Amino acid sequence: MVYDVSLLRADFPALAEGVAYFDGPGGTQVPRQVAEAIATTMCAGLSNRGAVTRAEQRADTVVLEARRAVADLLGCEPRGVVFSRSTTQVTYDVSRALAKGWRAGDEVVVTRLDHDSNIRPWVQAAEHAGATVRWVDFDRDTAELTVDDVVAQLSARTRLVAVTAASNVLGTKPDLPAIADAVHAAGALLYVDGVHLTPHAAIDVEALGADFYACSPYKFLGPHHGLVVARPETLEALHPDKLLPSSDAVPERFELGTLPYEVLAGTTAAIDYLAGTASSAADRRTRLLESMAAIEEHEDRLFDHLLDGLARNPRVTLHGSPQRRTPTVFFSVDGVADAEVYQALARLDVNAPASSFYALEASRWLGLGDGGAVRAGLAPYSNEEDVDRLLAGVDSLTA
Ligand SMILES: Cc1ncc(COP(=O)(O)O)c(C=O)c1O
Repeated sequence: MVYDVSLLRADFPALAEGVAYFDGPGGTQVPRQVAEAIATTMCAGLSNRGAVTRAEQRADTVVLEARRAVADLLGCEPRGVVFSRSTTQVTYDVSRALAKGWRAGDEVVVTRLDHDSNIRPWVQAAEHAGATVRWVDFDRDTAELTVDDVVAQLSARTRLVAVTAASNVLGTKPDLPAIADAVHAAGALLYVDGVHLTPHAAIDVEALGADFYACSPYKFLGPHHGLVVARPETLEALHPDKLLPSSDAVPERFELGTLPYEVLAGTTAAIDYLAGTASSAADRRTRLLESMAAIEEHEDRLFDHLLDGLARNPRVTLHGSPQRRTPTVFFSVDGVADAEVYQALARLDVNAPASSFYALEASRWLGLGDGGAVRAGLAPYSNEEDVDRLLAGVDSLTA
C-alpha cells in the first residue's frame, strides 16, 4: 500500500496550527473522526449499560464495540479487554489483585528500562506482601536489555516479571517472545507495558507471550484512558477488591465504577481510523496488521533521516543505540541545557520536550539524573518537513 501522509494530516485539526509535534510518546494528536465519535456518543441519549431502554442499549453497544476494536488491534479476545482511566491505574489494580496470592520470599522482577508505571506498582505490592524485588539492568551505552539480563534475575520463587515492550525514552524493544519463554519456564507471569510500542507496530499479544498487556489509546490517536488485556481465564483466576453490587463477570469485575462510554467510542474510532489507512477491504484485524506495518515503515524511514541529521551534529549526544527500536530518540546538546533546547524548539513551534518522562530509573541509570534529556518521537502524521524543522532548530543552537 502507498502511505499518503499528507492525506492523513488533513484529518488532524490540531496540525492546522503549524506545530511540528514530536511529543507523540507523551500523547498523540487526534483525527477529527475521534472527536466526532465522542461528541456523537454524548449527544445521543445515553444511560448506564443495560438492555431495556435505547439509551441503555447504546451504552452497552459502545462498550462491546470498544472491546471488539481493542481485540482486533492487539490480537486478543474481547472478553479479555479491561478498560481503565490510565495504564498506571490499571497496573496498580492488577498488581494489588495479583499480590493477594504472593507470600514472603516470593520474588517480583522489574527493569530499569521501564516507565515508572510498570515499576512502582510492583515494588509497592511486593513490599506489602513481603515479597522480594529483583532488578534487571540494561546496557548503559547501547540501551539494550537482553533475555540473559532477565534470566539472571529469575528463580523458582519468581511470581511475576514486569517488562516494557518498548522504552518510552530510548525506544529499545526487548525481545519479548524470548523473555516470555524464559519467564514461563520459571513458572511466572509476564506483565508487559505496551504503551509505547502499540502506536508503532502491529501487535499480537499471544505471539509476544504477554500474560497481561497494557496500553493507552491516547498514544495511538485516541482519547485519554488506559486498558489492559489478558486471556479471560487469567482474569477469571483473579479477584480484585470491588463493590458488592457491581458485576463479578470478567472483565467487568476489574472495571471499577461507571465506564467513560464516550471515551470508549473515541477509542473505537481511533482503531477504525488506523484500520482505515489500509488499502485492502479485509476484516479489521487484517487491515490493522497492514496499516500498522505501513505506519512502521513510514516512521522508520523518517526516523533514519532524523537520526542521521542529529548524528551529523558533533555537539549532539544520542543516548542509547538499540538495534530494535521505536522511532524515538533521547538526546542532549553539548553546552545547552536540555530545558533550553526544549524552549528554543518550542519558540520555533517544534514540540520536543525535555524530561525523564517518568522513566526515572532509566534516566538515573544513564547518569542523566531526574531531569532526563530531550525526547523526539515520531507519529503517523509526522512528515519530512517536521524532521527538517527539528534538525534546523537544533543546528541553530550550536551554530
Ligand atoms: C511506556 C509508558 N508506560 C506507561 C505510561 C503511563 O500511561 P498512563 O498515562 O496511561 O498511565 C506511559 C505514559 O507516558 C508510557 O509512556
